[in-house]
Amino acid sequence: MARRDDIDLINQSKKIIKTVSIPPQPKIVMEIKSELGMADPDFDRIARLVCGDTSLCAMILKVAHSPMFGADRFHSVDKAIERVLASLGADTFYNILVDTSLRRRAGTHKLDGFYSHSEVVAKSCAYLANKTGLVSSDIAYMAGLFHDCGVPVLVEKFDNYIGIAEIAMGLVPAKSLSGEQKSIIGIEGDMFKTDHCVVGYLFARLWGLSKSVSDVILYHHYVDIDIHKDKTTKDLAAMLLLSEFLCLFYDNVDNDAYRDIEQWAAFNNKVVVHLNIDSQDIIDMKDDVMEF
Ligand SMILES: [Fe+2]
Ligand SMILES: [Fe+2]
Repeated sequence: MARRDDIDLINQSKKIIKTVSIPPQPKIVMEIKSELGMADPDFDRIARLVCGDTSLCAMILKVAHSPMFGADRFHSVDKAIERVLASLGADTFYNILVDTSLRRRAGTHKLDGFYSHSEVVAKSCAYLANKTGLVSSDIAYMAGLFHDCGVPVLVEKFDNYIGIAEIAMGLVPAKSLSGEQKSIIGIEGDMFKTDHCVVGYLFARLWGLSKSVSDVILYHHYVDIDIHKDKTTKDLAAMLLLSEFLCLFYDNVDNDAYRDIEQWAAFNNKVVVHLNIDSQDIIDMKDDVMEF
């Protein structure tokens, strides 16, 4: 869905980031994904693959022994994997594996707050998906989890990127929307001839995320969600923009102006209309998200 000028930027970005490798999705996760996509998945093979990666196995066991499954205790890893897969379904099972892989990757560099920001936005997106019924909570979670995944890649590539990483992860500021200051995409373009949205898009394609999720990442700093013609993509874009805002109520952002709901709703009118919500709904949501 990328526009002509974005295609040029994507091609240019591919060259720029050639020297820094976007981390590939772990081979084991890709193999599990392909097995889950089979008409008749081979459960034993899935269990063997999960058991072949200590952190993936540990995470599935943690989920299996969470309160969600009551007092059940599993005497074999195979049984635990089988139960989690049967109870949560293939999409959520796969999301747990991808989430664990990204978390492991995030732990390898020093970028304060990246994973916690991604996780909070992902949970908020899943909450909004459940509340509105517009898209599945699994795809919404993925959009939230990966939306800023270009940031750590650029931190590794450019020494001076860390100085603007926080702006890249945050809300689109009102001053950018009113034209008083340059947008983060403009700043990144001037400094690095690429931006975290394009790099994140390339990352998402490499990890085999859906086209909707990849396109949402590419435009996640655009408040004009009409740029998306596909309905699912537009739904996700609206949820992601609102989640970036709701997330401010969790993050210790020392700026109350960022939390002005009326102002946010005015600048994000297309999101408000698309989700059919008003300022009071947003106030209620920010409390509900905290408990989700
Ligand atoms: Fe963000
Ligand atoms: Fe961002």
